Amino acid sequence: MRLLLIGYGNVGRAFRKLLKEKSEKYPILQNIKIEGIITRRGLMIGDKENFNPDKKTTILEAIDEIQPDVIVDMSSPNYKDGEPSVSAYVKALSNGIHIITTNKAPLALKFRELMEIAESKGAKIGFQGTVMSGTPSINLFRVQPVAEVFRIRGILNGTTNYILSRMYEGLSFEEALNEAKEKGYAEEDPTLDLNGFDAAAKLTILVNFMMNRSIRLGDFKFKGIEGINSDEIRRIKSEGKKIKLIAYADNYTIEVSPKVLSSQDPLFYIDGVENALEIENEIQRIIIRGPGAGPINAAYGALTDLVLLLKGCL
Ligand SMILES: NC(=O)c1ccc[n+]([C@@H]2O[C@H](COP(=O)([O-])OP(=O)(O)OC[C@H]3O[C@@H](n4cnc5c(N)ncnc54)[C@H](OP(=O)(O)O)[C@@H]3O)[C@@H](O)[C@H]2O)c1
Repeated sequence: MRLLLIGYGNVGRAFRKLLKEKSEKYPILQNIKIEGIITRRGLMIGDKENFNPDKKTTILEAIDEIQPDVIVDMSSPNYKDGEPSVSAYVKALSNGIHIITTNKAPLALKFRELMEIAESKGAKIGFQGTVMSGTPSINLFRVQPVAEVFRIRGILNGTTNYILSRMYEGLSFEEALNEAKEKGYAEEDPTLDLNGFDAAAKLTILVNFMMNRSIRLGDFKFKGIEGINSDEIRRIKSEGKKIKLIAYADNYTIEVSPKVLSSQDPLFYIDGVENALEIENEIQRIIIRGPGAGPINAAYGALTDLVLLLKGCL
């Protein structure tokens, strides 16, 4: 099976390393071959650890040249229009090439369109790495194909959860944000985490997939944690409660916003960079918790998708 990787940053490198390690142990991975890696800097043909592009090509040209069976997209999200990934997916899926992605933007913007092309051509899309990285969220639902999900609630952004947890322990917003940056939990420009955008992108993907809806990022309101100050946190703490950035969807409402939680709520206990997701269907209320980010986790998500694809389970 021939792979073309898009993006070779933290996740791309972790994926390549994990694939090598797991191929030695799991025979199902032994015939997988990375045939090319493309980034903004160009296309490297073949599989080498250090990225050194052989030529300047577009991703669409790279698909023609490499002729992959699967594209693994680990490139940065472009929330304006999802490009160049969206065009790459359309071309690939239209030709029966499968997609595995950790990049949220294409699916948050064009979920239904891409799924329809995939279905019409017998191609598959794996996207565990887009929500809670390697902690099964998307793929948990794959083993519940007849469950009717009517409510989703989650803490889906580790950066904001870390900041709120540290504010609960007495830090100011600025101190907590600076600490998150120092520890590598927040990007240099954390805007998309702080304003709720990242959680909204993840919620969009979850709602489309688990609740069989056709929504796009931008179809519902989202609010982040920027307006929350230490006085408010102190007041909420004195009442024995916590404030958390909650992504929520039911059959009437879809939103991301800070919510005050009591200690009876299981999400009350999710602190630091941890993520959690509560899914309610007609017979169960399931709660999962685990790491929501980290390159190795995201690489696990992508590699798990690859194995599920090989087993015919995507
Ligand atoms: N890191 C995590 O913990 C994590 C967890 C879950 C999901 N994700 C998602 O996984 C993806 C990769 O994350 P990362 O941490 O590996 O990011 P990163 O280290 O910044 O790497 C991004 C890679 O994408 C490439 N890229 C950016 N724009 C491109 C374009 N237009 N065409 C081709 N390649 C392009 C970059 O190429 P150049 O080097 O040439 O610029 C780079 O190789 C992102 O979508 C991220 O949101 C990350």
